[in-house]
This record gives sequence, C-alpha cells and structure tokens, in this order.
Amino acid sequence: MFSNIKIASRMNNIRPFYVMELLARARELESSGRSIVHMEIGEPDFPTPEPIVLAGKAALDLGHTRYLPATGLPELKTQIAAFYQTRFGVSVDPASVIITPGSSGALQLVMSVLIEPGESVLMADPGYPCNRHFVELVGGVPKCIPVGHETGYQLTAELVNEALTPDTKAVMVATPSNPTGTVLSREELTAIYTAVKAHGGVLIVDEIYQGLIYGTTGTTALALGDDLFVINSFSKYFGMTGWRLGWMVAPLAYVSAIDRLAQNIFISSSSLAQYAAIGAFSAECTELLEQRRAAFRKRRDYLLPALTGIGFKIASVPQGAFYLYADCSAFSDDSFRFSSDLLETVGVAITPGRDFGDNQPERHIRFAYTTDIPKLKEGVDRITDFLRKPLSRV
Ligand SMILES: Cc1ncc(COP(=O)(O)O)c(C=O)c1O
Repeated sequence: MFSNIKIASRMNNIRPFYVMELLARARELESSGRSIVHMEIGEPDFPTPEPIVLAGKAALDLGHTRYLPATGLPELKTQIAAFYQTRFGVSVDPASVIITPGSSGALQLVMSVLIEPGESVLMADPGYPCNRHFVELVGGVPKCIPVGHETGYQLTAELVNEALTPDTKAVMVATPSNPTGTVLSREELTAIYTAVKAHGGVLIVDEIYQGLIYGTTGTTALALGDDLFVINSFSKYFGMTGWRLGWMVAPLAYVSAIDRLAQNIFISSSSLAQYAAIGAFSAECTELLEQRRAAFRKRRDYLLPALTGIGFKIASVPQGAFYLYADCSAFSDDSFRFSSDLLETVGVAITPGRDFGDNQPERHIRFAYTTDIPKLKEGVDRITDFLRKPLSRV
C-alpha cells in the first residue's frame, strides 16, 4: 500500500461541491426504484442542437481529430466575433477570442496570467464557487463580498470601492449570476468598470449565461471597452456541457501570454467540439436556441410564483440563467439538512446554499429549472406535501 501520501497544502481550501453528494444519493435512490425530481442540476435538459451534432459528425467523417492551434480554430473565432456583431452590434477582433476547454479553462487561464501570489480578486458571495478556487490555485486571495437582495445579489461600484485595497488586482462579476440568476444593469456594470480601472485593476465578466436572459437579449460587457476580460461558454445557452468548450475575449495585449500558457496546459481545446460548435451559429440553430430560451422563461414564470406561493422567499426576480435562489428560513435554519430531508422524504433534489459561499448559506437553497414544467409541477407538489407534514420529515 502507498503510505507516503503528501497532498499539497493548496488543496486544503478546495471545497467539494456538496450538490454532488446529493446527486450521488439521488442516483442511488433512483437505482433502487425511487422517482426523483431533479431541480439541482446546472445543465440544460435539452440535447445538443442537431445542427451542432451534425457538424460534429461531419468533422469526424472528415478526420478533424488532430490538435488545433492553442487559441482555437480560426473559423470558430471568426464566427464568435461575428456573433457579437450580429447580436449586440459590438465589434470584436477575432484575434482577441481564445477558445478554451469549457469556460472553466478560460477562468484558469485568466487567473494565471493576471494574478501574482498574494494579490486579491473581489467577487460576490453568493457566487459560483469554483472562482474562489481558481484564484487560490495561483496563490491569489479571493475576497468574497457578501451581497443581498438590496443590490440584486450583485456587486455595486460602491461595494467595490469599499473593498478595494492596494493588493486588489481584479474584480470578477457574473451576469446573469449563478446561483441567483440576477443581471447587472448596464449603468452598474459601467460604474464597476470605471471604479476598477481607476484603481488600476482589471474587470473580468463571466457571461456564460448571457444567452439566457429573459425579456431582452441583454448586453455584453465588451460594449464598454476592449480592456476587460469576458468569459463565455458553449455549455449553457448552446447546450454543449459535455463537449467542454468555452471562450474568452481578452485585451489584445494579453493574447500572446495566454496563447503561451494554453499551449502548455491544454495544447488545444477539443478539435471535434470546435468543428461542431461552428454549427451553433447557423440560422437554424439560432432559431432553435431562441425557442429554448423562451421555454426556460416559461419555466421561470411558472416556478417563481409557485415557490413563493408555498412560502419560500425569492427577493430578487432573476432575469436570466436557470436558477432561483430562495430563502428557506421559514422552514429550516439548516438548508443542507433541509435539502437532504427533501430528497430522502419526497425525492426532490435541490442545491444547498453552502455550495455558493459563506454568506448565510444555511438559509438559502438553489432551484434549477433545467427540467420541463410537468416535472417542475410534480416537484412543487412534493415539496408542498413535505412542508405540510413536518412529522414525516426524516
Ligand atoms: C457562473 C459559471 N461560470 C462558469 C461555469 C463553468 O462552466 P463550463 O466550464 O461548462 O463552461 C459555470 C458552470 O456551471 C458557471 O455556473
């Protein structure tokens, strides 16, 4: 047996995704015959759109299975630049587009090229938990600022200005956000950008849910200038989670350093996925994706009042992504226990607040509407039942 185990200390702060434990338990229950309503999963239930799958199959037939340039397939970079022009009227130089293995790859690259050991990155709490870890992996210090419904669970320029210290290198925002689905207004985003620049720092904007904004097509932070980093992904709006493909638009001055690093740590993002993703920008695919966006909006419009109607508090109406971040303190002061009881008793899987930070996680849970309305209704019925019969709780 190997007895000399020495795991590096940088791993000490890397927390697990607690939802994975719940997911594993949900799968176990399912395999023993229980029916489970999944409202925990942060990935669309829709399959990858056919035009993308067909482009992928064609790429295989043509033998496109070799390494590509580290920053990505030129044709795909051009398509992404054209997407910004068509959708937002923003001109992007294809040379500033870097294709990555999921947006997770982009986050790893951006933190590595920007952050010196000891430098800090400001971000909102609750927020996407991996961001803290990406900063820590390069020796940086994530500074998670508690945010609440007063600011739509987003950072504001005022909060940023209060938290800036000489060691602050970057500020990171996500719009729409995971877990709250809230969107930063153009005005607030501009004010944050101005505050970060005045400090001499860099703004990083995670737009991976940008395609899933309801009621408007939203905007991109790239409209503000070309001296900020924008992260995006083929995972969510484009329905390609398992293909592992994302991108970043970086200031041109950083591209050569990012290229060098991408060559070393990734060599290339998946060739097959990149050729497939070219199919994502066809008119046919855009039409399908827009139908899906409308379907997600209908789900939100069903689930939000259904949950508040049975006593959850959802203070900020989410304008995007596929999440509702709810206060469950009317029912429990331990959201992890609440999530686990809900799963065991009535077979509804949700995500406990502790996956998203340290800002009152015990009173929050996240519902994902990545399942169809009949299943969401079934989930709400089961939760209603659970809440009515406190004695039946585990
Ligand atoms: C806010 C946010 N950023 C980044 C990611 C990473 O996604 P991917 O690597 O699939 O692009 C996720 C995944 O859920 C997310 O919610």
